[in-house]
Amino acid sequence: MYSITSREDLASGIYLFKVEAEDIAKKAKPGQFIILRMDDKGERIPLTIADWDEKTVTIVFMEVGKTTQKLATLSAGDSIADFVGPLGQPTEIESFGRVIVVGGGVGIAPIFPLARELKRKRNTVISIIGSRNKDLLFWEDKMRSVSDEIIVTTDDGSYGRKALVTQPLKEILEREKIQRVFAVGPVIMMKFCAATTKPFDVKTMVSLNPIMVDGTGMCGCCRVEVGGETKFACVDGPDFDAYLVDFDLLMMRQRAYLDEEKKALEMWEKSCPKS
Ligand code: FAD
Ligand code: NAD
Ligand code: FES
Repeated sequence: MYSITSREDLASGIYLFKVEAEDIAKKAKPGQFIILRMDDKGERIPLTIADWDEKTVTIVFMEVGKTTQKLATLSAGDSIADFVGPLGQPTEIESFGRVIVVGGGVGIAPIFPLARELKRKRNTVISIIGSRNKDLLFWEDKMRSVSDEIIVTTDDGSYGRKALVTQPLKEILEREKIQRVFAVGPVIMMKFCAATTKPFDVKTMVSLNPIMVDGTGMCGCCRVEVGGETKFACVDGPDFDAYLVDFDLLMMRQRAYLDEEKKALEMWEKSCPKS
């Protein structure tokens, strides 16, 4: 069992857990993820490693369905049955020069360790973080601490600049030469980040989030099409060159179990209504 040592309610429906997992913490690198199973009847869900220290691994998750809602009922002192990782290839981080990191929604969490490591490697880091509204925004201060410049956007203008993340992204690319862009967030955002950077021909990396089951390259559930080839995001990724990704296919595959997910959520809510 893996003990939750602390819990923080970061934003509306977005939670942070620190989980005691020394073996994972010792090996974790930016871009990697864990797969957890809350209990012996639970489904396995992947979550990106958002931070770590000597003994604990930090995860940040958004309530979207049954498992994430169940997870959100846990508190410090509770335990998680299985917590496996670090999984996936770490993000390739070098001294590129001037880089932009884009985090959309809960995708802000995984870009924090990435930006920190990019800064440590002496890159000039420009961060763009965006959420739908002020209530969903988190980690602005943490991101500011590892960025040379930060732009905050909200879709509705309730905080920061009223824009989607792609708007400042385009403006910065028009303003100066950038060596690399990293984007993490909803697939539609990553698709449009790629479309925004393409005319400027700046290598753009995205972190793909297909449905995963085993996380070890065995089940084939996480297959994505990259450069016309089938790749398994859990072992070949999750990072891929954005210009080669078939985003539309990924979005279609993400929706494959919507009916089952809806039923599972309804059954859970009936059996355990929220107060
Ligand atoms: P459901 O109602 O079951 O599903 C809601 C949607 O989530 C589905 O339509 C589907 O698109 C997706 N999903 C469902 N099951 C899975 C699964 N087993 N694997 C992947 N996606 C699934 N979310 C965060 O909030 N924070 C993170 O740091 C984070 N990191 C991720 C890293 C990776 C590599 C991947 C693949 C996904 C990540 N996600 C993250 C998404 C997270 O795994 C899903 O939100 C979660 O599995 C939803 O489960 P649910 O039962 O609550 O919702
Ligand atoms: P969201 O729908 O609230 O969108 C966040 C931001 O993305 C928006 O504020 C906007 O600035 C931008 N955006 C959205 N649609 C856009 C478009 N069409 N064009 C340009 N910009 C657009 O995001 P959310 O609900 O927080 O979802 C976050 C997603 O991130 C989830 O799908 C989750 O699975 C994913 N995620 C992925 C990873 C990973 O490693 N790949 C890690 C964590 C989270
Ligand atoms: Fe099974 Fe990737 S999740 S092969």
